[in-house]
Amino acid sequence: MNIISIIEKKKDKKKLSSDEITYAVNAYVMNIISDAQMAALLMAICINGMDIDETYYLTKAMLESGDVIDLSSIDGIKVDKHSTGGVGDKTTLVVAPIVASLGVSVAKLSGKGLGHTGGTIDKLESISGFRSNLKEEEFINQVKKIGIVDAEQTKELVPADKKIYSLRDVTGTTRSIPLIASSIMSKKLASGADKIVLDVKTGSGALITDFEDSVNLAKVMVTIGKMFKKQTVAFITDMNEPLGNTIGNGLEVKEAIETLKGNGNERFTDLCLTISSYMISLGKKILLSEAKEMAKKALESGLALEKFKEFVMYQGGDITNIEVSKNTYDVTSIYDGYVRDIDEVMLANECLVMGAGRLNKDDEINHGVGMVIKKHIGDYVRKNEVLVTVYYDDKKPSDENILKSFALSKNKDDGFPIIYTVIK
Ligand code: URA
Repeated sequence: MNIISIIEKKKDKKKLSSDEITYAVNAYVMNIISDAQMAALLMAICINGMDIDETYYLTKAMLESGDVIDLSSIDGIKVDKHSTGGVGDKTTLVVAPIVASLGVSVAKLSGKGLGHTGGTIDKLESISGFRSNLKEEEFINQVKKIGIVDAEQTKELVPADKKIYSLRDVTGTTRSIPLIASSIMSKKLASGADKIVLDVKTGSGALITDFEDSVNLAKVMVTIGKMFKKQTVAFITDMNEPLGNTIGNGLEVKEAIETLKGNGNERFTDLCLTISSYMISLGKKILLSEAKEMAKKALESGLALEKFKEFVMYQGGDITNIEVSKNTYDVTSIYDGYVRDIDEVMLANECLVMGAGRLNKDDEINHGVGMVIKKHIGDYVRKNEVLVTVYYDDKKPSDENILKSFALSKNKDDGFPIIYTVIK
């Protein structure tokens, strides 16, 4: 097999075979082909796309490049959930305990954040003592005992994705539907769950900003899941403003706890209940309407909150000790008006300036810093009213940028729905 002819074939808009795709992936992992050659192939895929068969072959080749977790010793249907990433996305912290409190096992591997989107592991590590580096045996035993675990991956799952993703990051090839779909689905398939629920973000703060493209991405991932005989459901959800009221690790955990107490932001609670309902319905093989009632009750009765506390305790965390900065100040509006738009990426970048996230994958982060968003799209703001409360440590954000993030207008705008559609 010759990598140059494979690159030229894709450059000429021709369909690659399973053997060609498998060769390219394996040869790259084994350092037989260079970064330059892989980058050329990735760019040709970005420009000319891949059909569903090619995307399946790519997913399969990546999946087979590493280990696959075996969850078969855990009874019942295991359901996994994955978000394509957004600003203030703490959904897993609410959804996983709701679902687990109702007897559907959640064996979740999460990642650390990079750039303006956060990672669930970073959020959990703002809880004093929380351990995310569990051995595989501990991981499985915890699910068997309490039905819920969330840890950082330890086994070498999908090494091909690790290598290809780093190259995509520096070659302008991140935004490609077949590349994103194969990257996400290979990791989800390697994580071993029986059913997969995907939260595909769309809007200005999402990886894919265009709605139609987001729907296409979701359709491709759902189809790939089916081709691997794993039922997959994908939501298209809004990322045109921060999700919920907080950005920043410790603050987001506190918000998740408030949501589990029933005091959550309405849009965010809605999203959590809908995703939970699908996971419960898939895991228990019951009607969605029945699952939704159960999810609501788990929230109202405190059952889900108890499950969250149990989960944190099992992983060594002290829920009474969550890192949040003591230093705060308010950024207030200089005009009156309705909030028409919030630039969540600009706000997230100001949180990055304070140390809430990483620019490079080995950066240390500050779990305590972040922002509480006091006004959302559609809210009326008076001059001098608080838009954002900043939680800072040694570095402060630009207040000018925070103010610029809020676009006000005379007329009320209803904003965006939290869930646009679901693809099954
Ligand atoms: N998340 C992933 O894991 N891979 C992508 O390509 C994009 C988002």
